[in-house]
Amino acid sequence: MSDTDNFDRGLAIYPGSFDPITNGHIELIFRGLEVFDRLVVAVAHNPRKEPMFTTEERTRLIREALPERPDLEVDCFEGLLVDYAARRHARVILRGLRAVADFESEFQMANMNKKINPAVETLFMMTGEKYFFLSSQNVREVATFGGPVDDLVPPNVAKALREKLGS
Ligand code: PNS
Repeated sequence: MSDTDNFDRGLAIYPGSFDPITNGHIELIFRGLEVFDRLVVAVAHNPRKEPMFTTEERTRLIREALPERPDLEVDCFEGLLVDYAARRHARVILRGLRAVADFESEFQMANMNKKINPAVETLFMMTGEKYFFLSSQNVREVATFGGPVDDLVPPNVAKALREKLGS
């Protein structure tokens, strides 16, 4: 039996910081579920980063924003993404690609991951044009200055942003 016989070929990992999850992420999750049998949304816990929302909050907001269904799981991980993928026996890391601006860093990350574990493939889906301008970072920025985010994030996230920012 080769190493790759152990893979769960129907499974994809959709990793990210999700600080917070946006409608763009959600669209990609549903598109991912059309392609793969099962999807794990994997929230990265990085002790050296200071996110707006804690890992627990980010995970809870995603769980609340998504329907409960047997082919969808929300989990969190610490350490290397490819190690997490290997623990889950996943062969595929799914990432969204917005504009050209994403390409450089995604290319680097995919190649680094490939170097660490050549068996794990990164697959990209183009973000829908409706959301190509949208990122967690600009959602945080707009919300911080009191701008409207209701069309950009799920309702529970808009509420959590208001509570966090006291607005
Ligand atoms: O939503 P983001 O911030 O673009 O997601 C980036 C993420 C979490 C996928 C990436 O930083 C990651 O995989 N972190 C885990 C640590 C790791 O494996 N680093 C090696 C990749 S160069």
